Amino acid sequence: FFLYYMKGILLHGGHGTRLRPLTHTGPKQLLPIANKPMSEYCIESMKDAGVTEIAIIIGGIGSNKVREYYGDGEKFDVKITYVKQDEPLGISHAINLCRSFIGDDKFLVFLGDNIIQRNIGDFANEFLKSNDDASILLCEVDNPSRFGIADMHEGKITKIMEKPKDPPTNFAVTGIYFLTPKIFDIIDNLKPSWRNELEITDALQILLSENNKISYHIITDYWKDTGTPEDIINANRAILENKTSYFYGEKSDSVSLTGIVLIGKGTKILGNSQITGPVIVGENCILDNVCIGPNCSIGNNSQITNSNIQNSIVMSDCIINTPIKIRNSIISSNSEIEFKNKSQDEKIFLLGEGTKILI
Ligand code: G1P
Repeated sequence: FFLYYMKGILLHGGHGTRLRPLTHTGPKQLLPIANKPMSEYCIESMKDAGVTEIAIIIGGIGSNKVREYYGDGEKFDVKITYVKQDEPLGISHAINLCRSFIGDDKFLVFLGDNIIQRNIGDFANEFLKSNDDASILLCEVDNPSRFGIADMHEGKITKIMEKPKDPPTNFAVTGIYFLTPKIFDIIDNLKPSWRNELEITDALQILLSENNKISYHIITDYWKDTGTPEDIINANRAILENKTSYFYGEKSDSVSLTGIVLIGKGTKILGNSQITGPVIVGENCILDNVCIGPNCSIGNNSQITNSNIQNSIVMSDCIINTPIKIRNSIISSNSEIEFKNKSQDEKIFLLGEGTKILI
């Protein structure tokens, strides 16, 4: 139950350069984790916070795909407005484009590549009831110089900085920000950083230095900013591990399923296949004589024969038939891997949409 109301901004732009070639044909936030676009988990988290009016910031590669997928939001029980950011000039810049959309309301900003497993409804409620000028979520990380970092003293934030060379703490500022319209005037006067972006951390630091109150919570549950293929594969495991098994397909008697296994409608599992969870397989797939898992997601309409896949994501409409052991791989939609030779080596694949490897 929410006493007051908050709007939301979901950042869905950028070039996803560190995830190429996966991001040559679409934004990274639409890459699937457990067969669902990463940013859909953000929308679910925003709904947990009572947010139903969302501005999605689009820009960069494949913005049309974002509109196609989310539409006006009706399918997801939210109301979506699109705001175009013509150049990737930073999180603060994106927020400022939403000034009229936000009006006088408090709001929640969510970076579309951040995945949090914890329900943020209680944080949202607390912020709505408080007089805080901002509230941020911190999470301890091993590589603090990759993130915005907060320093604290006696339970209060004393400094917020972007990717410091000598981080004073390991507490990363996650990409989930509760804000008030006070931030807009600060952003108006912000100077671009060394990477030519208007940083959200710089805006928060100014807010702090002008004696405003920024509260925080430390989260210990799973949180991840999914910048690299490895991050995505790890997020896939974390999400799958919390699922409950289901089986809507068909299988032959000699097939073995162990652990958390989710099999969609119309999917057939044949031969001596072994599926070791956590594994999700979408709808209308054919898996014949395969060893799949742990930690695999297979998208709809894929056909996998005589293959061995672990710790990998295979998207929809793929054809795979190879004795090569596929490990730690991400294989985009409409790809095909067929190796006729007998090599059983382990290999890593990172394939963009429509790739064909026929040897
Ligand atoms: C951005 C923010 C950074 C924050 C991170 C969280 O970094 O600038 O402060 O810690 O998101 O995902 P970027 O992904 O732009 O490097």
